[in-house]
Order: sequence, then structure tokens, then C-alpha cells
Amino acid sequence: MNIGILSSGGDCPGINAAIRGVGKTALTYFGMTVVGIRCGFTGLLNKDILPLNTETLSGILNLGGTILGTSREKPFKKFFQPDPDHEEKPQVIVDTYHELGLDCLVCIGGSGTQKTAYQLSQLGLNIIGIPKTIDNDIWGTDITFGFNTAVSIATEAIDRLHSTASSHNRVMVIELMGHHAGWITLYAGMAGGADVILIPELGFDIKKVTRTILERARQNKPYSIVAIAEGLETGEKNCRPATYISRMIEESTGMETRETVLGYVQRGGSPSAFDRNLGTRLGGHTTELIAKGQFGRMVAVKGDNIISVPLNKISGKLKLVSHDHDLIVLGKRMGISFGV
Ligand code: F6P
Repeated sequence: MNIGILSSGGDCPGINAAIRGVGKTALTYFGMTVVGIRCGFTGLLNKDILPLNTETLSGILNLGGTILGTSREKPFKKFFQPDPDHEEKPQVIVDTYHELGLDCLVCIGGSGTQKTAYQLSQLGLNIIGIPKTIDNDIWGTDITFGFNTAVSIATEAIDRLHSTASSHNRVMVIELMGHHAGWITLYAGMAGGADVILIPELGFDIKKVTRTILERARQNKPYSIVAIAEGLETGEKNCRPATYISRMIEESTGMETRETVLGYVQRGGSPSAFDRNLGTRLGGHTTELIAKGQFGRMVAVKGDNIISVPLNKISGKLKLVSHDHDLIVLGKRMGISFGV
């Protein structure tokens, strides 16, 4: 069998481990051939490929990003400006799939990619999805690779804010990634000992936030750490949540407040051991599905096991933090404010 692999959407640590897991197992154990598609679905539109063999797949396990490159190309999205080179993008992709002689296309990506993967499977292609994102928001899997690494980086950043916050008696607001979900902020906020954690799923009341900060000051702790998610809705247009929340805190408490937007360092660099192994496991299980001819599915984590779920069951859905997540319930009992 001849397998094509691509990575699409934002990069994250662990993608190379997954590419290696698919590639080496397919080549060595199953005797399949493997070809890499460059820059996500763009590579299928432009027939931009990278042959994968034991040499190109070596030495990549610890590398961040993706050796295949990525893009945010969404071939099924209709644009106001037609693209004359690829007017019927899905059909171009189907044609390229056949021209390359592929028996299966493995799509490593987030929820947008899994939706495209499902749509391509509806056009008759043999597709397997591998979930990846630092945001951990893909429906159907307990966890995605990239998340563990991003949480560690964000936690270290919060740790570093503690000493400067307490030295200057300041409030430090840190904005973390996560798109519409609060997973990174909840996990890094709790691991970093933040005093206030604000995530989109819960919303917030600024009075409750400032009350917590003033109460800490009264208890001889005239500094606080506030971790907030980039997807937090503040009602203020064209203003980052960190900027808005910092301004509100400074205005209502009179305490000096500084903001940090952590940004892309959260998804760059080498994957954690956990993410390397998760990528390897998901990649290896992908080849089993291919060998059995079970297509139209996404490999996923359930508890300690790797399973697979039909792409039609997860397409278009997001996995958000539930209000009764135990870190929230237990955090509240410990006096941490979630702004509600
Ligand atoms: O999905 C991963 C992510 O890093 C989000 O956390 C963030 O909102 C987004 O990608 C940034 O996307 P871009 O790479 O397009 O700037």
C-alpha cells in the first residue's frame, strides 16, 4: 500500500513523532511505501511531495514543528475571490490522490483539519485523521499531543512571574493560547499556582476578580497572578483580553498591573517525553487501521488506550472545558478565583 501523510493547521510539538510513528512502522513492519505531502492541503493542490524513507524519518523525534511544513489551507471553504489556479480545489485534491497512486491519506491536524479529512472521505478517499493541537480541543479524544508541552512552557512562564510580582507588589496578568478553549489556561494556571484563572467556558465578573486581588492584599499578599485565556470574551473590540483585564484591575484596585502575552513560544520547540510517546502511539495505531482497511476514522486517546472514532462523529465539534472539571471544583475549594 502507498500512504500519503500531511500536517495541516497550526504546528505543535509532537507532529514529527507522529510522522515518524506512521512512517517507520509502515515501512519496516508492514512493507508499505510512504510519501510526505508538503504544507498541508496546499501540497496536494500543487503536487508538492517529499519522499519519506528511513533516512528522512531519522533524527526527527525530538524536533518541534513539522518536517513536512503546514498551512491553513481549507480546500472546501468558499472564498469571495475565486482562485483561478485551483477553482475546484476538492476535485484537484482527489485527482492528485489518484495521480500519486495513494491508497490512504493520513491527515495530522486540529478540528479544522479533521473536518476537511471527513469531507475528503465523503468524496471517496481513504482517510485516517491524527489529532494534534496545543489547544486540546478536539472532540473524540481525551488529549492531543502538543498540549502537555504547551502546558509545561506556560507553567514555567507563570512560575517566573511569581518572583517579579512579589518583588514589586504587582498584579501580573498572563494571556495564554487555546483558541476558543481554556484548557491550557486551566492546566497551566493551576500548575503555576495562579490566584485567578479566567477561561472562555466560564466567563467572568470583573468585580469578583478584583475582590479576590484586594482580599489577598488585605491578607498581606499585595501581589497576584491572573492567568487568562486568549479566547476570553471581554466585550471590548480590538483589544487583547490581557490588556482589557489589566486595565480593569488597575483602575478598580489601584494596584500596579502588568500584562504578558506568552504567544507562540507555547507551541514552538522540542516536544515533551509525553507528547513524543503520544505521537508515536497514535502514528503506530494509524498503520494498523490502514492495514485492516478501516478508513474514515480518527485515532484517539481514551483513558490509557488508543482507539479510533468515525470522522463523521467528531467533524465540526469542539471539546471545551466543562464547568464541573475537577480542577475547577477543587481549585475553588482552595480559594482560587475563576471569576464567577
Ligand atoms: O491552534 C493553535 C493555536 O496556536 C491557537 O492556540 C491560536 O489561537 C492559533 O493557533 C494561532 O494561529 P496562527 O498560527 O494562525 O496565528
